[in-house]
Amino acid sequence: MKILVINGPNLNYLGRRKTEVYGTTTLKEINDRLAHETSKFGLKIESFQSNHEGKIIDMIYQAKESAGEDKTIGIIINPGALTHYSYALRDALEAVEIPAVEVHLSRIHAREGFRRRSVTAPVCIGQISGFGADSYLLGLRALIQHLRIPESSRR
Ligand code: DQA
Repeated sequence: MKILVINGPNLNYLGRRKTEVYGTTTLKEINDRLAHETSKFGLKIESFQSNHEGKIIDMIYQAKESAGEDKTIGIIINPGALTHYSYALRDALEAVEIPAVEVHLSRIHAREGFRRRSVTAPVCIGQISGFGADSYLLGLRALIQHLRIPESSRR
């Protein structure tokens, strides 16, 4: 079983983009940390980044079709700027009913007005924002707890 990690527009540039806000950790480093953490629970991660709204939505539906060993049981998503306006992404997350945690590196509620609203958070089980790269690990922890992955499945 796996956790799908989705990163939206411009997050391919993490580590180089606005480092005073987003830090210097790259997306690859974040994904490696997540993979290490999920392996302790006998889970895999699949990481996907796209700058295209439609591709992200297609990926969410693809995850819904996954089955058996490859089944996606949860989603960690940083939608980037799509957070603030993509009703299409919101509807996709709502439609598939896979538990999702929304994460943000920065404190979106303490930044520009347009960032304070998330249209996607209401269809997620929760939102973590403001802890830099650690937001992803905290999000994963929350998701695993929500899914009640039994201690016994830990390796
Ligand atoms: C972000 C916050 C968004 O407002 C912004 O558009 C991003 C990154 C974050 O992780 O802090 O691309 O999602």
